[in-house]
Amino acid sequence: MRSVLVTGGAGFIGSAVCRHLVGAGADVLNVDALTYAGNLASLSTIDNAPNYRFARIDVCDRRAISEAFQAFQPDHVIHLAAESHVDRSITGSDAFIQTNIVGTFSMLEAARAYWLELPPGKREWFRFLHVSTDEVYGSLGGDGLFVETTPYDPSSPYSASKAAADHLVAAWARTYGFPTVISNCSNNYGPYHFPEKLIPLVILNAIHGKPLPVYGEGANVRDWLYVEDHARALDLIVSRGRVGEKYNVGGRNERRNIDVVRKVCVILDRLRPMDRPHESLIAFVADRPGHDLRYAIDASKLERDLGWRAVETFDSGIEKTVRWYLDNEWWWRPLREKVYAGERLGVLPGTPPANSKAPASAAATIGG
Ligand SMILES: NC(=O)c1ccc[n+]([C@@H]2O[C@H](COP(=O)([O-])OP(=O)(O)OC[C@H]3O[C@@H](n4cnc5c(N)ncnc54)[C@H](O)[C@@H]3O)[C@@H](O)[C@H]2O)c1
Repeated sequence: MRSVLVTGGAGFIGSAVCRHLVGAGADVLNVDALTYAGNLASLSTIDNAPNYRFARIDVCDRRAISEAFQAFQPDHVIHLAAESHVDRSITGSDAFIQTNIVGTFSMLEAARAYWLELPPGKREWFRFLHVSTDEVYGSLGGDGLFVETTPYDPSSPYSASKAAADHLVAAWARTYGFPTVISNCSNNYGPYHFPEKLIPLVILNAIHGKPLPVYGEGANVRDWLYVEDHARALDLIVSRGRVGEKYNVGGRNERRNIDVVRKVCVILDRLRPMDRPHESLIAFVADRPGHDLRYAIDASKLERDLGWRAVETFDSGIEKTVRWYLDNEWWWRPLREKVYAGERLGVLPGTPPANSKAPASAAATIGG
């Protein structure tokens, strides 16, 4: 049985990866520090499975990580643990530098020491997949797509920390012959998404009749991918991707933020109508500092070389997602009450509430 060590498996994408791998019969060790973004409730469908285990470990703790490698003896690593929210990185970048850069360095060194000791058959099969973002490429204008050779040009502390980590991973492959692969994915959405991010936040604010703040004019474009399509892509890349290479992952589903918000409103008007259209809750607020205009991924290398295809269109995935939030209040209510209530993050001192009709305190965070 294949054994896979997943870091950040209590997060949004990591939990989808754990559910997918356990369902596919792999032996999984989920290593996660359980920060505010980590939630073991996202693993409730697999936590009794005989092929799933959890260990609470900080990826910066190299000794504990090394012990986990020795005890678990993984064939593959899928490294997702990270601080992931752009707005939080604007007001407090320390944790981003620590986890995303130092944590990736710690993972690389622990994994390399383990790999060097493996017997020849097992050593050739070993892979370290570093999961990164399209945000490392910076912003696109009105046209063009990110390809694997697009130069890095990150805009936020978050994307800069991910870019730094990508460079470490590429250097470990070139310098040490360590078998790494990097994936750069566009914005994900789907079930179990922490409610500070655009789509879950809009769904939950709309259900509660609260303002739906949209940064700037809502013209920023993101390329949306359903999280389960990403989990399948990561399994393929770690199993069959070429050592030392990068793969872009994206759903060919570009949407302006304002259109995403309007789409959620239309679905909720049908599934959970209120006394007026949900769109009347939209409020435009001061833009995010350094907000990238457009991201769009060319995923043809992954499609051509590994035969991956996104199964969900944006229309089918967003319908599933809205329905999931309506049906799974048990999952999100404790987070809204105890961890994050929807307040705006990432505002620099002196930033005016701008073109907002909603007070800044009521404005919630969008994007990233
Ligand atoms: N969400 C997206 O749209 C997106 C898109 C492309 C790439 N990514 C990348 O995918 C990965 C996962 O993203 P996500 O949206 O699931 O993030 P998330 O914030 O939902 O989850 C991150 C997980 O990492 C854990 N973690 C944080 N610091 C840790 C540490 N020091 N040690 C161990 N665990 C730690 C958290 O507890 C949490 O469970 C990240 O590397 C992110 O950069 C995300």
